[in-house]
Amino acid sequence: GKGNYRHFMEKEIHEQPAVIGDTLKSYIDPATRTVTLPDLGVDLGRIPRVSIVACGTSLYAGQVARDWFEQVARLPAVAEIASEFRYREPVLDPGAMALFISQSGETIDTLAALRWAKTQNQRIVSVINARESAMERESDGVLHTLAGPEIGVASTKAFTTQLAVLACLVIGTGRARGTLSPAREAELTSALIEVPARAAEVLEMDAALRAMAEEVAEARDVLYLGRGTAWTIAMEGALKLKEISYIHAEGYPAGEMKHGPIALIDEQVPVVVIAPAGPLFEKTASNVQEVHARGGRVILMSDKAGCERLAPLCAHTLALPSVHPFVAPILYAIPAQLLAYHVAVLKGTDVDQPRNLAKSVTVE
Ligand code: M6R
Repeated sequence: GKGNYRHFMEKEIHEQPAVIGDTLKSYIDPATRTVTLPDLGVDLGRIPRVSIVACGTSLYAGQVARDWFEQVARLPAVAEIASEFRYREPVLDPGAMALFISQSGETIDTLAALRWAKTQNQRIVSVINARESAMERESDGVLHTLAGPEIGVASTKAFTTQLAVLACLVIGTGRARGTLSPAREAELTSALIEVPARAAEVLEMDAALRAMAEEVAEARDVLYLGRGTAWTIAMEGALKLKEISYIHAEGYPAGEMKHGPIALIDEQVPVVVIAPAGPLFEKTASNVQEVHARGGRVILMSDKAGCERLAPLCAHTLALPSVHPFVAPILYAIPAQLLAYHVAVLKGTDVDQPRNLAKSVTVE
């Protein structure tokens, strides 16, 4: 049941500290700060590259993982839309890894892409939440997320637990390839171990997000901006808003805005900026300046220092707990979910069963 929550989505958002913690516990030893992966039927030290394939929110988890694979493990990686993958006829190295991500394990576009990848001699590894799915049966190796059943059509805890598993897979791959030092492995696993506690702090910011939602609920269009993995979180935030509140939203790389979408900016368009601390913060800050100069209403999600710096340019700021930049996408997904949730509640939509959508899409 929903317990004391109004919707399954709200309950599932609030379960995240617990289920991210459960998921991390099955791959990280907190005493040694090392990752242990089950046998995946593939030698992670020898694969030449990885193609990550999924749909919707699971694709966004894959897109974050793509950046992580390259930055942390120095493994060439691409993230592919499942319904486009095989029709594009990509050139795949025999013996490379094809990585499929799915909450349900039954999404037909992803399953068809998996079957096609097999014909191309790929090693098939899947990240799946549900148990005993078609994708699980057809994979060489499976990593499970421990999110528990996700009922709300909008994916929330499945996404953040996918990121938790993928972070561990990336660390394990970096170690197998010899591209990740033991000190760096300890640094990254320590950052992951902290996530559940920081996520619980973000859930305490619910009232501030409800206030921001009042402004967003009036809008016809909303722009979400970020750079690097925060760009992916911008797209995920925009997808959440579209699917449950029916407000048009666009997630865009902040630096690409001046090549077109900046023409959309006026006082009517809220611009949600995802700007965690890290090497890209200053670049994103200059994009905030561009939006502000054109009368745009910036809703900033950053840490305390970032919010203090940019407050004069923003209509609203949300100061999230400070975290290692590696894990920022996991943490920053949560306020994006809550913002969409509160907008949908204000709009009175059917939050758990939005129109035209199914929890698991089993038609091409
Ligand atoms: O079960 P899957 O993870 O394969 O589902 C993929 C998408 O259909 C799913 O993530 C969809 O985008 C969600 N409704 C987004 O909230």
